[in-house]
Amino acid sequence: MQKNDFYLGVATSALQIEGSLAADGSGQSLWEVFAAQPGKVFNNDTPALACDHYRRCEADLDLMAALGIEMYRFSTAWPRIFPAGAGALNQKGLDFYARLIDGLLERGIEPMLTLYHWELPQTMQERGGWANRDVAKYFADYAGTMLERFGDRVKYWITHNEPWVTTVLGYWEGVHPPGTKDFAVASQVAHHLLYSHQLVWRIFQELNLPQGQLGIALNLSPVHAASNQPADLAAADRYDAFLNRWFMDPVLKGTYPEALCTLWREQGVSYPLERMDELQAGTINFLGINYYTRNRVQAGSGDALYALLRLEQLPPELPATEMGWEIYPDGLYELLTRISRENKELPLFITENGAAFPDQVDADGRVKDEQRIAYLEAHLAQVRRAKEEGVNVRGYLVWSFLDNFEWTYGYSKRFGLVYVDYATQKRIIKDSGYWYRDQINRKKQKG
Ligand code: FCB
Repeated sequence: MQKNDFYLGVATSALQIEGSLAADGSGQSLWEVFAAQPGKVFNNDTPALACDHYRRCEADLDLMAALGIEMYRFSTAWPRIFPAGAGALNQKGLDFYARLIDGLLERGIEPMLTLYHWELPQTMQERGGWANRDVAKYFADYAGTMLERFGDRVKYWITHNEPWVTTVLGYWEGVHPPGTKDFAVASQVAHHLLYSHQLVWRIFQELNLPQGQLGIALNLSPVHAASNQPADLAAADRYDAFLNRWFMDPVLKGTYPEALCTLWREQGVSYPLERMDELQAGTINFLGINYYTRNRVQAGSGDALYALLRLEQLPPELPATEMGWEIYPDGLYELLTRISRENKELPLFITENGAAFPDQVDADGRVKDEQRIAYLEAHLAQVRRAKEEGVNVRGYLVWSFLDNFEWTYGYSKRFGLVYVDYATQKRIIKDSGYWYRDQINRKKQKG
């Protein structure tokens, strides 16, 4: 095995760890504004301090190096670079990420940079957010600036993190900002996110970065039918089109899945159908997969969102994490082999995988998170299984390096390999962190 044909790494995102949201001339993001409204986030937690990573960056990089981490996926906050979303560039924001990237390279850690991990500048939201097609162009301008600035040092780029979540949680279920609940608007938003991805793809081609690789990170999950009855199997297909293929088919094949088109027709939603010919096939060099759990569905009337899809989601059959997400490691193998079957050459990265459990610091100062070790071990084994069978999987990144601000769950859910005591900002490497370090060491020894 060549030294770097498979990376073991960790992932985070800017808002979830950085804090110092107004520092050095940064603008506000819509998440900052949303979290400040009472009742939106558990315990009214805010990302104002988070892991204070903006100020503790060097020490965090040292900690990462001590664990032997080979790749670090992080995101850059658009409002730090363009405080008003467009217009004046904020040099100090760029400088922070320059220090971070250089700090990674000095330590031999490969950076993977996500351009959009849900931090829309508030000014862009005031112009209609992703429902406004122009926002895609502003995003491409921001992305182009980052590519020009850092394309010489960063090889792996991701446009969007989980555009499905931006779409469905933000514009259909309305539990994430901006809190819209409208299927037609959500469908338009999805199209604009894809359009923005394509604009960045074009810029990327023009820049012709010798080693650059551009991808997208999708939350994917196998969908299992409750039974072999035709109605349940059809429900599973519909849900698969909705959950997995809404974004995967456009970037790979340049089309929307037929089941989704049918849904749009049924609902009288015309915008994405009218604009289908804008989609362009093959706009990624690699696919990022964020994997946490599987889904089980049956035909039925469901509630709200699921009523449209004429299905019901079933509760977990197997033990679940603290998020209530069923633990199903085989799902990772199922996804990898399924995608690889149709896209043999396409490099795949597990850009997120991990679990929240109620961690405690023991009297001896240790965090003995055996459940997380078991979770990660079982999932990594499925990745290795797929790889041994010839799947072109290039890396596995644990979500997350540090405990952090888990969106609407605030600080109540801990995903880190490293425990963060938020009151003192002390970091404690959990047993899972030591376990991961050993995995990486073993891999490095094998060469
Ligand atoms: C994913 C997000 C990531 C984190 C994990 C638990 O959906 O991309 O930021 O919240 O879930």
